[in-house]
Amino acid sequence: MKISIIGTGYVGLVTGACLADLGNTVICADNNKNKITNLKKCIIPIYEPGLEELVKINVRKKRLCFTADIKEAVSKSQIIFIAVGTPSLSNGEADLTGVENVARNIALNMTGYRLIVEKSTVPVETGKWVKHTVSTFVKRNIDFDIASNPEFLREGQAINDFMHPDRIVIGAESKKARELMAALYKPLNAPLVITDIKSAELIKHASNSFLANKISFINAISRICEKVGADVMEVAFGMGMDKRIGPGFLSAGIGYGGSCFPKDVDAFIDIAQKLGCDFDLLKAVREVNESQKNMFLKKIKDMLWIIKDKTIGVLGLSFKPDTDDIRNAPSIDIIRMLQAEGAKIKAYDPSAMEKAAKALDKVKFCKDPYEACKGSDCLLIATEWDEFKELDFTRIKKMLKRPFIIDGRNIYDPAAMKKLGFMYAGIGRRAVTKK
Ligand code: UDX
Repeated sequence: MKISIIGTGYVGLVTGACLADLGNTVICADNNKNKITNLKKCIIPIYEPGLEELVKINVRKKRLCFTADIKEAVSKSQIIFIAVGTPSLSNGEADLTGVENVARNIALNMTGYRLIVEKSTVPVETGKWVKHTVSTFVKRNIDFDIASNPEFLREGQAINDFMHPDRIVIGAESKKARELMAALYKPLNAPLVITDIKSAELIKHASNSFLANKISFINAISRICEKVGADVMEVAFGMGMDKRIGPGFLSAGIGYGGSCFPKDVDAFIDIAQKLGCDFDLLKAVREVNESQKNMFLKKIKDMLWIIKDKTIGVLGLSFKPDTDDIRNAPSIDIIRMLQAEGAKIKAYDPSAMEKAAKALDKVKFCKDPYEACKGSDCLLIATEWDEFKELDFTRIKKMLKRPFIIDGRNIYDPAAMKKLGFMYAGIGRRAVTKK
């Protein structure tokens, strides 16, 4: 089928490359000419395993191309995905300027029937506004449909998540739109959830908010575990054995970050407020996530007492492993909080230091985890990169001024750390009693 994707960010690029790989002819358009010039040279602006290869293969097979001209994209395709960013405004509301702008430009350039698909994460009822905008600007007697097809891609696993989805959600109002979308996704052989546009839009916000809720729930449980000396990892394991709960997204830590959860939770709270529903449960999810960072700071103070003039080693800057993305990463906020109290920071991350250097001042970026420990008063684990799980602790202990480790992602075993001679604190971990 002939497809165009408007917006070549994280979601648009992965969607375009994957749909091309399924055999469709795909044009990816963006108003950022510089980005398009690079994409034409297969220079990919984001780090996503396998994406560069997928783009190269499909460009070579002439199934995928890039343009800065939306007119070309709209005139040559039947299905048009809107995949532009919907960042948070200062009040938490989703900024839909890009969506409106693209909807108008699609309408102005339509030369025949088009199916216009919301791929960007948008608040419920955005589809109504997209339809209104297209109706306003489209030439007379040109027919079109709107659909909602939210994405559930995780950074670092986006291509796998696209090719092997748990479900494909399609919100549509006409038989023609439903059939076109079902045909497009047929090669994936995945369960289809066919519903109306509003329900499809809500499935996205509700799913992400529920996942964020699971994380804040287990983080709240971790606080109770600390009070009674229980172990949150064992509590989470016991909970997760219940099929109705499931083991996923029950890892206590310094909280969730990334480009989606914080933004989607804010936007959902905002749209609910506007609809007259006070989503106080979701406000609590956000509050727990925010205060988890303060809890972590308190742990550091409980171990170091005075923060001022101390040197603190930080391992992990990305919001999660296997990505260089630091957007809304708790690690960045925690570093800023420590610096505000006069701490000196030495940090190491396998892939996010370049981006972190643009966001942080006066941080010493180290060449490896050991340099971050050299002369430091304590070591913090902020992101659970695999390489942090197999460190030479004898060497670490020699390099640290004090054998203090505060593990924000529970990657170490408290008893093992005690045996190695460390003062160890995790998140909701059982205090190691003298054997
Ligand atoms: C998320 C959703 O999973 C995905 O479906 C949606 O399309 C985009 O947002 P992503 O943000 O890439 O994907 O990462 P994810 O793996 O979901 O982790 C999000 C954050 O939650 C990370 O900061 C991670 O550290 C944190 N997290 C995750 C926890 O703190 N505990 C957990 O148990 C799981």
